[in-house]
Amino acid sequence: MSTLGDLGSTDGERETLEIDLLLEGVFRHYGFDFRQYSRASITRRLRRRVALEGLQSISGLQERLLYDPACMERLLLDLSINVTAMFRDPSFYRTLRLKIVPLLRTYPFVRVWNAGCSTGEETYSLAIMLREEGLYERSRIYATDINEAVVQQAKEGLFPLEKMKEYTENYLAAGGTQEFSQYYIAAYESARFDRTLQENIVFAQHNLASDRSFNEFHLIMCRNVMIYFDHSLQEHVHRLFYDSLPRLGLLALGHKESIAFSPHESCYEVLDAQEKLYRKVA
Ligand SMILES: C[S@@+](CC[C@H](N)C(=O)[O-])C[C@H]1O[C@@H](n2cnc3c(N)ncnc32)[C@H](O)[C@@H]1O
Repeated sequence: MSTLGDLGSTDGERETLEIDLLLEGVFRHYGFDFRQYSRASITRRLRRRVALEGLQSISGLQERLLYDPACMERLLLDLSINVTAMFRDPSFYRTLRLKIVPLLRTYPFVRVWNAGCSTGEETYSLAIMLREEGLYERSRIYATDINEAVVQQAKEGLFPLEKMKEYTENYLAAGGTQEFSQYYIAAYESARFDRTLQENIVFAQHNLASDRSFNEFHLIMCRNVMIYFDHSLQEHVHRLFYDSLPRLGLLALGHKESIAFSPHESCYEVLDAQEKLYRKVA
């Protein structure tokens, strides 16, 4: 059997092959499928993990990963990029209030899927907005993420107290109508969010790359997630969302993502071109 050395490959080609093998191994062993994530960012993160683990090569990392689940946990945190914030991009929430909430009002019961929810800041922001619009009591939010550790954190509803100034500003810019501080109490270094905000939220682990749809939703919100995927994985996720929406179902992608150039583009009408809000029409 030939080895990578026998193939006479350049360093770049060798690294590409090692990355392919590592991603395949991770998928087979743990079921996490990063094979179709954007290659430049995966490569950067794997190189960084090699250095942090004190290893010499990507193949050394692969070996460690397969025998050490704790190393897999660390890599998962590297690869899944969990950056988030409450009322992140306030104009998104302002537009949601203006253009999506009136449509949701027409339903007796509202099911929302917040895909790629990270540590939950986005989900609690949505819950607060729905409560202020009088919709929360008849809503159920399914908040999912590939990363079990962040899902557990989201369930806690605890966020750094030091972030509350920034989040209050975001909340007000997003069209918040109350005192933001009424939604949490200070507990040591954390802000503990109102437990009643969790009552209609179901947090669960779900992988957009490999898991199926699990319900039909009136609104799917998925921001800052697909930017890390390559084109074919983006298409796969668009298919999943399309299959999870009824006719007139709503899709909210935020300004960094888009449905343009996807085979599903013609199945949606644009409700807001800036914030990438769509309604399924076909
Ligand atoms: C940058 S965060 C975005 C969080 C939030 N949506 C926001 O905009 O603030 C991206 C999230 O996508 C999740 N993610 C990445 N790949 C995923 C996949 N295949 N399935 C589900 N979630 C995924 C990551 O774990 C991470 O929490």
